[in-house]
Amino acid sequence: MALKLRRLSYALGAEVCDIDVSKPMGEAQFGEIYRAFLQYGILLFRNQDITREEHIDFSRRFGELDRHDSLPRDRRADHPELLMVTNEPNADGTPSDTRYTGRQWHSDMSFTTVPSLGSLLRCFAVPEVGGDTLFANMDAAYDALSDGMKKLIAGLHGIQLSGTRKIANEESGVVRAAEQRRLNPPVAQPIVRVHPETGRKALYIGEKVKRFDGMTEEESKPLIDYLVRHATRPDFVYRHQWRKDDILAWDNRCTMHQALGDFDETQLRHMERTTILGTPSGYVVANG
Ligand code: OGA
Ligand code: MN
Repeated sequence: MALKLRRLSYALGAEVCDIDVSKPMGEAQFGEIYRAFLQYGILLFRNQDITREEHIDFSRRFGELDRHDSLPRDRRADHPELLMVTNEPNADGTPSDTRYTGRQWHSDMSFTTVPSLGSLLRCFAVPEVGGDTLFANMDAAYDALSDGMKKLIAGLHGIQLSGTRKIANEESGVVRAAEQRRLNPPVAQPIVRVHPETGRKALYIGEKVKRFDGMTEEESKPLIDYLVRHATRPDFVYRHQWRKDDILAWDNRCTMHQALGDFDETQLRHMERTTILGTPSGYVVANG
């Protein structure tokens, strides 16, 4: 059966209509979904009122799942394949560690040497307004650079920071940041990555890139800032307005994303994510 697709924006994304991802799905149909995933960079599945196990099972079709050993505080105890992104306070009343997850432009797990292939984020609850997620098409951003700039950045590697900047100053944030650093030594990633399946080149930059390997922060910053600003021009961006039971699947190799914090924090925003393991990329640096 042919997939019914509805494009989400000119830049990227498509909705897969009239589908229940918890139903048995043959290889041929999943193959169509996977080809659309490669073509559009992100896929939206609406009205997926499914169980956590069904979310995990569907995600496994995309590849082996990360058990989130590099983010042990953020995964669910009952399902290590599920990473929480929630502002629901902990059982003891303390604020959730993951309430500011994703609040800067990034690609998932770029701070490890096996960055993610893709992620599937499921929405359980969203505030009345706000809390959208932005996605940028990094193939298109790369293609739009001049030949001179492409040549300039060809061999560069960006040193990646892990962790959430916004809570770094709070006490729980300090403990968390120290643990993050211990679990995840600094890693450098190529600024231009060749997509292992489409063969296309994509910019691999974001706000977690602190500096280029072999250069100072001062030297690197203007170019990092330029590339992030370039890649996040509205022309390259899709803004997703969440509904309960949306599942959004994105390709981390050719898109980046950012969670927006423009909502009433007394209202619940609760998401859960599976993360598909990718292929090795980058290297550990001694002097991150
Ligand atoms: C993520 C993430 C964005 C959001 O789950 O990887 O960055 O809007 N989430 O919650
Ligand atoms: Mn993310």
